[in-house]
Amino acid sequence: MFDKLFSPIRIRDLQLPHRIVLPAMGTKFSGNDSYVTDKLIDYHVARVKGGSGLNIVEVASVHTPSAPRHFLSISDDKYIPGLKKLTDAIHKAGGNAGIQLWQGSLAVGMDQTAQILVASDMPVSPEITIPGITKEQIKEIVACYGAAAARAVEAGFDCIEFHCAHNYLPHSFLSGGINHRTDEYGGSLENRAKFPLACIRAIRENIPEGMPLFMRIDAHDDYLEGGLTIEEVIPFCAMAGAAGVDVLDVSRGNIISAGLKFEVPPVDIPKAFNIDNAARIRRETGMLTIGVGRINTAQLAEKILEEDKVDMVVMGRAQLADPDFINKIREGRTEDVFYCVGCNQGCYDCFADTNVEHITCLRNPALGREVPRLFWSQAVESAAWKRRSY
Ligand SMILES: Cc1cc2nc3c(=O)[nH]c(=O)nc-3n(C[C@H](O)[C@H](O)[C@H](O)COP(=O)(O)O)c2cc1C
Ligand code: SF4
Repeated sequence: MFDKLFSPIRIRDLQLPHRIVLPAMGTKFSGNDSYVTDKLIDYHVARVKGGSGLNIVEVASVHTPSAPRHFLSISDDKYIPGLKKLTDAIHKAGGNAGIQLWQGSLAVGMDQTAQILVASDMPVSPEITIPGITKEQIKEIVACYGAAAARAVEAGFDCIEFHCAHNYLPHSFLSGGINHRTDEYGGSLENRAKFPLACIRAIRENIPEGMPLFMRIDAHDDYLEGGLTIEEVIPFCAMAGAAGVDVLDVSRGNIISAGLKFEVPPVDIPKAFNIDNAARIRRETGMLTIGVGRINTAQLAEKILEEDKVDMVVMGRAQLADPDFINKIREGRTEDVFYCVGCNQGCYDCFADTNVEHITCLRNPALGREVPRLFWSQAVESAAWKRRSY
């Protein structure tokens, strides 16, 4: 049962037991100071115990001034011990860990203390224009990607994912709908590709030969005048492959347009809506490819692999709703799965409200309480109190 899904795959030195990927998903478990917390470790370990073979840990900021609070950071050596504790726990439970290197551009504006960096001048009101980053800043950020990659190696990660999608800074440079520069970083696709390619080279130079490099990419932009087409994305992916990317993780969605809905597709978006784009990119680049977006049953995932559309599949929210999703489907217990219903209430919606502490799930009340530390400490305290009162 589900033979394709449960066939192993090797990418450079990384041996994976099956074809399902737990993708990067921001959790807000890292709190105000962007360090790894016990909550974040418990959450990942629960999914490894539930069968996950590769946990790509969420977005991690590479550049301190633009790092928003509540999101993980890898922008300084001080974060390495916490990250090491996380990878040790994932390894001890039998899993593999990746980290997603991130500079969030406009998105970091959710934290007013974080510096916003944009690819080119961006008017936000009749009076205010955010200036596009300078060539000096470009060099600084590229160096930050390299330094973050070196920290990821030191922290024990098995692979790295370069975030080049969702309107964040590398995608913003790549997209003609966002990048309006007139220097050598703007205009033609080759020029717009210069910044992301420089980041990729900086990462590759700082990781061992055997370590795989994944890249999250949008198949194309949506609702964005002059935005990326798949005909541009395909040659860019080929350039990225030549620069050292091994695996394409094909997503969709950009936060400055209605295309946002494709990033974490809700219930009204058809299941596997983006898979034919991923299949085309794979066919035309010949690169290992992950299909992404509302693939939430084993039957659908197996069919996609049987049709040879992609090499692996992201099953993200499926594993938020049920941490034991993979073990259950491996054992053929599909009836026992608590399925993600695509409501986005709790998980993705938590980013719309800065007062919400961390992600939760409509279907899984235990999300964020994988090890009920508070409960036990309260129980112990109350037992001690009872003993005293007798
Ligand atoms: C709570 C939440 C946080 C997310 N954070 C990230 C992120 O940090 N980086 C990223 O590339 N995508 C992020 N995504 C998108 C997921 O990686 C994934 O592409 C998306 O949920 C679609 O896959 P699914 O239908 O299997 O859940 C997030 C999604 C959710 C639900
Ligand atoms: S909150 Fe809804 S969309 Fe998010 S993981 Fe849970 S069931 Fe799925």
